[in-house]
Amino acid sequence: MLSRLPLSALKNAGAFGASRSTLQAAGARSFTRVRFASSSSGASNAFQSLINSRASLVSATLFSAGSIAWYTYLYGSLPFVGEVHANSPAEDGLHPGVYPWPHKGLFDTFDHASIRRGYQVYREVCAACHSLDRIAWRNLVGVSHTADEVKAMAEEVEYQDGPDDNGEMFQRPGKLSDYMPPPYPNEEAARAGNAGALPPDLSLIIKARHGGPDYVFSLLTGYIDPPAGIEVRDGMNYNPYFPSGAISMARLLFDGLVEYDDGTPATTSQMAKDVVTFLNWASEPEHDERKRLGVKAVVIFSSLFAISIYVKRFKWALVKSRKIVYNPPADKAH
Ligand code: HEC
Repeated sequence: MLSRLPLSALKNAGAFGASRSTLQAAGARSFTRVRFASSSSGASNAFQSLINSRASLVSATLFSAGSIAWYTYLYGSLPFVGEVHANSPAEDGLHPGVYPWPHKGLFDTFDHASIRRGYQVYREVCAACHSLDRIAWRNLVGVSHTADEVKAMAEEVEYQDGPDDNGEMFQRPGKLSDYMPPPYPNEEAARAGNAGALPPDLSLIIKARHGGPDYVFSLLTGYIDPPAGIEVRDGMNYNPYFPSGAISMARLLFDGLVEYDDGTPATTSQMAKDVVTFLNWASEPEHDERKRLGVKAVVIFSSLFAISIYVKRFKWALVKSRKIVYNPPADKAH
């Protein structure tokens, strides 16, 4: 095909102007020509002049240098350059173990009995300090409790409502639509009650921490005496899973702290597992539905894909198996 192109087309089709001469000098003339022969001359001229101009070479270099500088500024080093970190497990926190959560698999839902027990642990232990702002009473209905149970639990809490006809605010028992009551009216009160530390809202804590449920489980069950050489300030507690090792929250879960309705022995690790399952649900209430829909979507879309392949081949069969025969007219000249 190249041989049919007029020579001028080959000439117009630019090779790198500056580098062409070098390449030519290196005897690579035919290579440069062949390479650009098929591109249209206008486009390649624009390309050529872009590459040729020194300014753009300089700016390309600056751009690369800038990207590298910015990347190293953001992430400390380039991804392919090994480095020695000055931080240690003591600063980052010990990496939590990997636990076999029943809801971990692709087709697994939450263990709802565990969510129910976990709610009890949250209510009886954690709710003294931690809020759960994003969960309303109605969210528990059909997940861990019946509607009647949740209504009864909500009614035990007084909510401020109003104003009434006289412009006064008033107290009323909770309804399904109310959100979980916070333990403190505001952040300042929360800090004042916890020696300056703020107990974070637990609604999204599983999503908000590296390691998710594994981390929170390890944190709750990981309190130990500080190792030799480590001093923990008064009012702080040693926990190797917490970054820095010193956490203001003391160990809270001890065997037999709550009494489960379903008779499950309330060991420390059982309560930790249940409360983490509950918090995991609070972070991802859509979890079960998401997996159910996901399976349906995969099944439906892969069947549709298979059918569409079949239909495509069916429709194209005629075209693909067509044979074009050319019968030259009989030569009548002679
Ligand atoms: C006596 C108050 C109190 C109780 C009760 C309490 N916490 Fe905490 N919690 C805190 C405080 C204070 C912090 C902040 C710790 C810090 O920043 O040093 C905290 C932090 C946390 C954190 C975040 C740790 C991190 O990585 O930042 C989690 C998770 C947590 N608590 C879970 C729980 C769970 C689950 C319960 C119930 C079993 C519970 N807490 C009960 C006071 C409490």
